[in-house]
Amino acid sequence: MKTVAVVGSQWGDEGKGKVIDYLATQADVVVRGQGGNNAGHTLVVGSKKFALRLIPSGVLNPNIINVIGNGIVFDPKGFLEEIEMLNKDDIDTSNIKISDRAHVVFPYHKELDGLAEEARGDNKIGTTKKGIGPCYMDKTERSGIRICDLMDKDIFEKKLRPQIEAKNKIVKNIYGKEELFDFDTIYNEYLEYAEKIRHYVADTSVVVYDAIKAGKKVLFEGAQGTLLDLDLGTYPYVTSSHPTSGGFSIGAGIGPNMIKDVVGIVKAYTTRVGEGPFVTELDNEIGERIRIQGHEFGTVTGRSRRCGWFDAVIVRYAARVNGLTSISLMLLDVLTGFDTVKICTSYKMGDKIVKEFPASLEDLAKCEPIYEELEGWSEDLTGMETYEELPENAKKYIAKIEELVGVSVDMVSVGPNRAQTIIRKNIF
Ligand code: GDP
Ligand code: IMO
Ligand code: MG
Repeated sequence: MKTVAVVGSQWGDEGKGKVIDYLATQADVVVRGQGGNNAGHTLVVGSKKFALRLIPSGVLNPNIINVIGNGIVFDPKGFLEEIEMLNKDDIDTSNIKISDRAHVVFPYHKELDGLAEEARGDNKIGTTKKGIGPCYMDKTERSGIRICDLMDKDIFEKKLRPQIEAKNKIVKNIYGKEELFDFDTIYNEYLEYAEKIRHYVADTSVVVYDAIKAGKKVLFEGAQGTLLDLDLGTYPYVTSSHPTSGGFSIGAGIGPNMIKDVVGIVKAYTTRVGEGPFVTELDNEIGERIRIQGHEFGTVTGRSRRCGWFDAVIVRYAARVNGLTSISLMLLDVLTGFDTVKICTSYKMGDKIVKEFPASLEDLAKCEPIYEELEGWSEDLTGMETYEELPENAKKYIAKIEELVGVSVDMVSVGPNRAQTIIRKNIF
């Protein structure tokens, strides 16, 4: 079996899009299984840069099937805008498949996302306001509308009408808003989307299963990251899906034994967008320097990302809960020019040493990082093509991460471009 899951190992934005785009040059199928257009995956090929949210990052490679799986919350408006953006650059988008079981994001989901955030006040999560949480709420509440429903105008009408009524009650009675959702407007808008996406719709579980059975190379593209997982992340400062490797089995509709390898995408330092505790955060000029050198501003919302040193407690946790078989270490070039670089090896909570990532955010907020300091390097890494060329101190930094996490770093990324990738061991 040649199947590889690619998962974010921190709080997202680790460079998953770049790795998928790179690996897709050798693959046959790329599958997204969770999240929606809260994701922002950046691909740089030659002098062109693309930001993808919902469409899998294999799309720049011709002849690849790009699957949007059943675990996705699908925003048709966002999807069609992405298609238009890609077609402007003459990128073939005919090979995309959308699961008939995926749930559909509606304008009321986005509105409710914003209203819930506002109501949380100081306790806001800092969501992307793409309606992700409210759409997954409808799914688990069992009142969601799926792509297969949207494909039939009578069934769609039957399912949408009570939703509009229910959502109007919420905005009026809970949030005290007068502007209500209009059934006809939303119904007609979505019927137009339905016709535009109809030819992409398929039973994608069959597509993925058949490809695996035929010995094809299949990549599972994670969105978000381990610490944003609904169960395993820094709850409640998480997203509403399962970005960990286990999420692919359900979100793509395949058995867990059909995923062979799990590659953890790991940033050479740590970033986070949105709220919630962050032990190694550098709210100082070092953090600012990392932000500038790494261009750490969000793809989706443009928010500046919070930055901090590498946290081995987090990545060790990610290695365990995802079953990582390999690591791709990203953005190593960003750490050039520091006299010393720090790695957090464990936490100190009062007089206790904490080695495993705690469940309680109150405990996490009390944790102080225990650092190991390593010598930095001054060489520009961005043109380096082999592991041997890397400066000795950069190699020591990589070796320290391998030692602390217990997983080998098989790929090192030294720039945003597809070509700026150093391979130590082939993934496929
Ligand atoms: P994703 O959400 O995990 O796909 O990551 P994002 O695309 O949101 O954020 C990663 C950012 O880092 C993007 O701007 C990438 O173009 C960029 N990037 C990826 N790998 C590297 C790298 O090795 N070096 C540098 N300097 N930038 C990188
Ligand atoms: P990619 O795939 C980083 C964060 C939001 C917020 C929390 C909940 O590009 O790595 P949501 O809109 O999902 O309800 O927001 O999750 N978040 C991300 N942070 N990268 C992402 O995706 C993210 N997707 C959601 O900032 O803190
Ligand atoms: Mg991103």
